[in-house]
Amino acid sequence: MAKSKTKSAFVCEDCGAEHSKWQGQCSVCSAWNTLSRVNITPIANAAVGYAGVTAQVKKLSEIEALETPRIASGFKELDRVLGGGFVPGSVVLIGGDPGAGKSTLLLQACTTLAQSKGVLYVTGEESLQQLAMRAKRLSLPLDGLSVAAETRAEIIANLIEEQKPAVVILDSIQVMQMESVDSTPGSVSQVKETAAYFTRLAKQKDVVIVLVGHITKEGGIAGPKVLEHMIDCFMMLDSPAGSRFRTLRGHKNRFGAVNELGVFAMTDMGMKEVANPSAIFLQRGDVDSPGSIATVTWEGTRPLLVELQALVDDVAGGHPKRVAVGLDQQRLAMHLAVLHRHCGIALGDQDVFANVVGGVRIAETGADLAVLLAVLGSFRDRVLPRDLIVFGELGLTGELRPVTNGQERLREAAKHGFKHAIVPFANSPKEKLGNMSVHGVKTLAAALEVVAGL
Ligand code: TYD
Ligand code: MG
Repeated sequence: MAKSKTKSAFVCEDCGAEHSKWQGQCSVCSAWNTLSRVNITPIANAAVGYAGVTAQVKKLSEIEALETPRIASGFKELDRVLGGGFVPGSVVLIGGDPGAGKSTLLLQACTTLAQSKGVLYVTGEESLQQLAMRAKRLSLPLDGLSVAAETRAEIIANLIEEQKPAVVILDSIQVMQMESVDSTPGSVSQVKETAAYFTRLAKQKDVVIVLVGHITKEGGIAGPKVLEHMIDCFMMLDSPAGSRFRTLRGHKNRFGAVNELGVFAMTDMGMKEVANPSAIFLQRGDVDSPGSIATVTWEGTRPLLVELQALVDDVAGGHPKRVAVGLDQQRLAMHLAVLHRHCGIALGDQDVFANVVGGVRIAETGADLAVLLAVLGSFRDRVLPRDLIVFGELGLTGELRPVTNGQERLREAAKHGFKHAIVPFANSPKEKLGNMSVHGVKTLAAALEVVAGL
């Protein structure tokens, strides 16, 4: 067999692009002085993220597609985002700001999981004492879980070889390093090479590897962009400012639905699952105020009730502002144009702010109608009934378009005691839902008429 030769490449520390020669400026992201030399050792079958072994051609029908049993993580909300638990041989990246609760969540899950399976928790950030103290304070079962404080990838690979765990946690990928890569830990090239190394290991040993990453929403250095193509699942643990709730959202999943949402609360006894997220996101104060409305969005595989708020105020000098938090800003501007053109309501001399309460991000169009009604409510200083729920996508011609899973959304609203609903005509229910009266409308103008009559 030919002896494998070490090659070197130049990797941009900012964007992770590889170049064969050194150059002053990265030709991909245009950053200056960011290239550094990386030694690449070729490994047989080293295709990153490739799970197969042979190069034979077969008919798809000849391949046995076995559903491998999933490993339950110990948290139903985490399993939901994973698509039903960990898949053996898969690599999961959990990102989030420092302090979001990634280590706490995984420690809790692992100590439970270790009661029935081999689990290895490798910490490169905290000492073993800190880890043990936290587990004790949270009254977690201490027997079962194997722990190691290590950052060298090759040594961790040996530990995995010896211990043969079913699940390995690497906390965090930013501090892990490979001796063969001569670049500092946390740099793009280290993170990329180390993650690729562990991805191959996961496939070879059929072990679940969970990588923890300090990743901000913007991505930043060694962010998800660099890793996303090689891992199987990528999820973010978000901690809205000042809130004790944490949302775990799937951004990529080779084994389940993306955009799935898990909800936790950070308590003094660690992370607690929130079984009924609609109830917490819809906690409204006692005072009814204009500009507030409830809507029901669709998150992965389940409905979620949320409150939208809007504030409309005279322009305070300069251009009118359009600010959307947790919503798409461009869509807000578009809705205001529809409101003007099709309903004759002009907000050109008003600042418009819209916000989703509780720090949830709505990435679908079903909230369109609710945003507009909240804006109008604030503009006209009109309090909308508390037991009114609305959803629907708004088209540029002023028509109200149906959304997916309309019936399930309405059922969720009825379950939480809503009495009136305004929805797109095509989402009207076939049969009566509790004692909720549902108005199916075809246009925004028709929706406004219904609101006026409530
Ligand atoms: P941690 O899991 O260390 O965050 P990460 O690994 O994502 O950086 O969580 C740290 C934060 O959580 C810290 O601000 C303290 C808080 N916390 C609690 O509120 N309750 C608890 O029981 C624990 C363990 C942490
Ligand atoms: Mg941590």
